Amino acid sequence: MTNEEIVALAKEGRKLSYSPYSHFAVGAVVITKDGKQYFGANIENASYPLCMCAERNALYNAYMDGYKKNDLLVLALVADTDDVCTPCGACRQVISELFPSDGKIIMANMNGKIKETTISELLPFAFDSSDLQ
Ligand code: THU
Repeated sequence: MTNEEIVALAKEGRKLSYSPYSHFAVGAVVITKDGKQYFGANIENASYPLCMCAERNALYNAYMDGYKKNDLLVLALVADTDDVCTPCGACRQVISELFPSDGKIIMANMNGKIKETTISELLPFAFDSSDLQ
């Protein structure tokens, strides 16, 4: 699948956004190594801190179907931003826990701008389980 085709899936996910407070719809998709696709969108709440980001919902969606870190291949996100939409800090921490360090992360906007990265690039020196030893 091309990056453009994957971003098109993230845009499908974005249609499921519940964002009546920010009016900022974000879409995401996680693709597994065996070809399954899991959508995510941001889901907000009148109690603002309870809002959940699209990337985390997509990852949790895949995990709820039994997939684990090393089963995952691609994570893509898209929003209506000038440059590509990048994952927030909380999502970077969750991605680092649940998604392979070298897995492909595709960041996009609604106008066809696309950048490819990894969580190692987005969150160097991550805090992880090894720090708890
Ligand atoms: N949001 C995401 O879904 N992903 C991000 O990486 C950035 C922020 C959502 C959270 C909130 O619903 C809205 O965008 C505005 O911050």
